[in-house]
Amino acid sequence: MIEQQNLFPAETYTERRQALISTMNSFGATGVLLFIGLEEVPMNYCGNTYSFHQDGSFSYFWGLGESSLAAVIDLDSHDEILFCDERSIDDEIWMGPLPLPADRAGLAGVHQTHPTKELAAYLQSACNARRHVHVLPPYRARTTQTLDRLLGADTRSWKARASADFIRAVVKLRSIKSSAEIAEIEKALDISHAMYTRAFGRIVPGRFEREIVGAMEGAVLEVGSRTSFPTICSVRGEILHNHNHANIMRKGDLLVLDSGAESSLGYSSDITRTVPVSGKFTPAQREIYEIVLAAQTTAIKMIRPGIFFRDVHIAAARVIASGLKQAGLLKGNPDDAVEAGAHALFFPHGLGHMIGLDVHDMESLGEDFVGYDEETTRSEQFGLAYLRLARRLQTDFTVTVEPGIYFIPALIDIWRNEARHRDFIDYDRVAAFRGFGGIRIEDDVVVTSEGSRVLGKPIPKTVAEIEASFLNT
Ligand code: GLY
Ligand code: MN
Ligand code: MN
Repeated sequence: MIEQQNLFPAETYTERRQALISTMNSFGATGVLLFIGLEEVPMNYCGNTYSFHQDGSFSYFWGLGESSLAAVIDLDSHDEILFCDERSIDDEIWMGPLPLPADRAGLAGVHQTHPTKELAAYLQSACNARRHVHVLPPYRARTTQTLDRLLGADTRSWKARASADFIRAVVKLRSIKSSAEIAEIEKALDISHAMYTRAFGRIVPGRFEREIVGAMEGAVLEVGSRTSFPTICSVRGEILHNHNHANIMRKGDLLVLDSGAESSLGYSSDITRTVPVSGKFTPAQREIYEIVLAAQTTAIKMIRPGIFFRDVHIAAARVIASGLKQAGLLKGNPDDAVEAGAHALFFPHGLGHMIGLDVHDMESLGEDFVGYDEETTRSEQFGLAYLRLARRLQTDFTVTVEPGIYFIPALIDIWRNEARHRDFIDYDRVAAFRGFGGIRIEDDVVVTSEGSRVLGKPIPKTVAEIEASFLNT
């Protein structure tokens, strides 16, 4: 028997769909909302599939984690219909007795189910009646093909055809986490805690990075979870999303560990720690580490409802710039360096992102819909342009806070050759840091009415805590 994904109580999904209808009504939208769940994806032949992951918005409103589902909400009649199919005897022979999605629909408060083949006719009649069928932007080719088949292809992309009202309504609802959702993120963080405890006990010079990954992911698999994104574990931490684990860790290396797991309801964690392979930071590593930690501490302290996350990002960048000035890598006024974008040689990414059912929550709906609004526009400046979240924070937003300092040889070479920001950057001093790698520190934070709370059990983070955790293993 296949283990079934857990659900919240049925009322949770019923209330979410009702809130969606009210939000769409408040925008003056009418017609039909169409949800296309995800399909199994073959790795190398059809029966050999990647681990199945339901679409975040489908999970949020319909709960069910099975593949090949679709659903509609009629904004006028308030009808809610799940489209799903009977299982074949072949499915049962190969996969064991599986509950029917139609039987599980009630667990998500859904009382009308129809075979999938009826969806096309349902949508055709809505289109014939000139009703608007609202869709979210697809991010898999298979979903694009399904939408083309159901609603007709035209010269515009589905990104262009997606309903801005539908996206805005989903973002509005999914951005505010209930206490039950925050508890789920904390369950995922319990798994993160186990991952880091395992990792810290195994990091020694001479081992491969992949041995640490195996131990961390073992802690995930043995509780029936899965990683929320591919684990980053690298002594080449300056490569921001480095998924290679083939290096041997050596004394003197810094190891960046950026990883996450999922709760049984699919909520993510996302934690980064950077540790010295030898168990003790060198003076230079310690100096840079303390700057990143100060940037993170400053940012977390600033978080409260109403503050622009872009301002929190800029404050973290200023701490980084002033620390790098102290370290002799930057010159001039640190705030001016940040204004000009010179700090982005070392901190080229955004401070963080929303986290929830997706590790980068709702990113498939469009970063600008999630992180920007009428009060905020995306900067074109290198570094700041990568900021995924700029808008004002609200109570019960859950976000990551993940500043970093990196020495990226290719970027240093380009900027130095262009003499870019040479009034602010001491390139001779920077040259001494080639091969240093990178440092990132990341935690998951909930915005509270008073400020913020770092989620999960503490994982060693200060220099003293990290060095002590190595002594204890
Ligand atoms: N793990 C990817 C990120 O931190 O955004
Ligand atoms: Mn991360
Ligand atoms: Mn992150």
